[in-house]
Amino acid sequence: MSESWANSGLDLHLDLGRTRRAATVEAAIRAAILDGRLAPGSRLPPSRSLAADLGIARNSIADVYGRLVAEGWLESRVGSGTWVSDRRVVAPERTPVGTDTAFSLDLRGGLPDASGFPRSEWAAATRRALARAAVSSFGYGDPAGHGALLSSLATYLGRARGVWAEPDRVVVMHGFGEILAVVSRALVARGARRVGVEAYGHERHRRILMAAGLDIVALSLDAEGADVSRLDELGVDAVLLTPAHQFPTGVPLSPARRVEVVRWAERTNGLVIEDDYDGEFRFDGRTIGALQALAPERVVYAGTASKSLAPAVGLAWAVVPPDLRPCLLEQRLLLGSSVDSLAQLSLAEFIDGNQYDRHLRALRSMYRERRRHLEEVLDGLLPGCAVTGMAAGLHCLVELPPGVDEADVEAEAAERGLRVEGVSRYLVEGAPPSVVRALVLGFGAPPPHRYDEALAIVAEAVRSATRSRR
Ligand SMILES: Cc1ncc(COP(=O)(O)O)c(C=O)c1O
Repeated sequence: MSESWANSGLDLHLDLGRTRRAATVEAAIRAAILDGRLAPGSRLPPSRSLAADLGIARNSIADVYGRLVAEGWLESRVGSGTWVSDRRVVAPERTPVGTDTAFSLDLRGGLPDASGFPRSEWAAATRRALARAAVSSFGYGDPAGHGALLSSLATYLGRARGVWAEPDRVVVMHGFGEILAVVSRALVARGARRVGVEAYGHERHRRILMAAGLDIVALSLDAEGADVSRLDELGVDAVLLTPAHQFPTGVPLSPARRVEVVRWAERTNGLVIEDDYDGEFRFDGRTIGALQALAPERVVYAGTASKSLAPAVGLAWAVVPPDLRPCLLEQRLLLGSSVDSLAQLSLAEFIDGNQYDRHLRALRSMYRERRRHLEEVLDGLLPGCAVTGMAAGLHCLVELPPGVDEADVEAEAAERGLRVEGVSRYLVEGAPPSVVRALVLGFGAPPPHRYDEALAIVAEAVRSATRSRR
């Protein structure tokens, strides 16, 4: 819905969408300042009249002004009103988005909120771990991981993710990247040649598979997730999937396809690599348990602390079929990798002391709120742009208006210091696109005080790219 503030003495056209909550107004003012419609020095209407125009409580508008003043967008003096501060809004020159582009904000898909890391609880768990650790824990550890963590993870994964796990099936590694590198090398050592991957996914993961010597084949995606009906025909030995929340489209693998892929694996001795990267974050009340429980002998289940704690923790876990484990540990040895035992002991303490569950509960409610806020703000700033794929995880897809290029929006956002990515960046090279033009937008990472600013830039970048297409 379009609104004009003419009644308040300031003629400014705003797209406020269906909702009129203060957050939308705040983001709309930021967007108007960023795109120059509210020039430095422009006076804003008194909070009382703007509140009356928009049908919002006066206190809410006063709070919005207060926050924008605190952040330096606006200035105010008692008796003189509120105006746009004259910090220079530099009209940036367009530069292509490259590796050397400097970004002050990042809304790429799936980054967690690093400021939410539970520092004191982690420090306490580390202190407990150090106090209790046997002397042997300070030496070269078990290549599969520290026994204490293997037990904690087996219990936790069984309880929280429905994984069929025993401690001697668990292996701890340094991130999902290492799990994938080790599993793909173990597959090649056992004669595998070809692996199916979802048509959209991380290029880094595909490169890891190929570096191990595997050919990749793209599986198309639709509303039920990856099409696993042609695995026989494609002649793959293994398949890499994100069943709980496809990355990046956000679609869960349908129950029928879960059964279908497991049947394929059992029939052909194939292997499913289940990347459960954000399975802990489900917001629609539908818990989607691990696929692994359907066929523990044919599935490698993988989880990571990168989203639930932080990438800096550097811990991920795999639950592997017993027949694959020795080969996997051998490949790991050949790669020369290992994981910090003290970090493992800290995580074991953290899980056993129930801090991990508590932390996840707090994160879930924080991300649920951010997700709601994102929907509300984008509904206001980009009415008509569908937001999908956000029933779980820390990202969603924001569809672009017809004819607008993802690369143009990326470039417009980059000029304003924001990093965003279009969904086509995730498409397997040469595979036919099956997703409409969209941004993969994360809602985890920006610190809370800059979240609205980032969303306002997204809206402005989309509008600017739309204008330049006309
Ligand atoms: C699809 C997907 N899988 C796995 C991971 C986890 O990777 P890592 O454990 O290497 O941080 C991520 C992290 O962003 C991801 O997006």
